[in-house]
Amino acid sequence: MAIRTIREYGDEVLGKHCKDVKHMTPGLALLINDMFDTMYEAQGVGLAAPQVGVLKKVFVVDVTGEDPMVFINPEIYEADGEQEGYEGCLSLPGKSGIVKRPMHIRVRALDRNMKEFDMEAEELLARAICHETDHLDGRMYVELVEGELVNNEDIQREEEE
Ligand code: NI
Repeated sequence: MAIRTIREYGDEVLGKHCKDVKHMTPGLALLINDMFDTMYEAQGVGLAAPQVGVLKKVFVVDVTGEDPMVFINPEIYEADGEQEGYEGCLSLPGKSGIVKRPMHIRVRALDRNMKEFDMEAEELLARAICHETDHLDGRMYVELVEGELVNNEDIQREEEE
């Protein structure tokens, strides 16, 4: 198990475009394993390669804690509907903001064996895939936030009241 350092908002690597992955290599396989370890350790539901300083089109997602998925060179080719809700990012710990995302998407990508797959996603999984795909284009969710960023503790307090 290897935990990598998560780059924080303001780090210039988070504003850069990632390159397509051409081949699976031992280094990339290790990166993917480390990204899962790092994401679970930080209790996130998604992590993109630039967040650990690697400018390659790779992200990992697990929105249930039991469904780890790898996306290489992803392409969201259909999006419809709308959902509005709090979104956060491991590169901006402790903060969240309200972001509108499509309710439903279709995405094509390669898996860790470089095999193409095509899937539909909705709700939280669609949100996570959109968020992580944005990272590969150097975009952070804060650019999409409506209103102010809030502290996560304040959201919990709001929900308890
Ligand atoms: Ni993020």
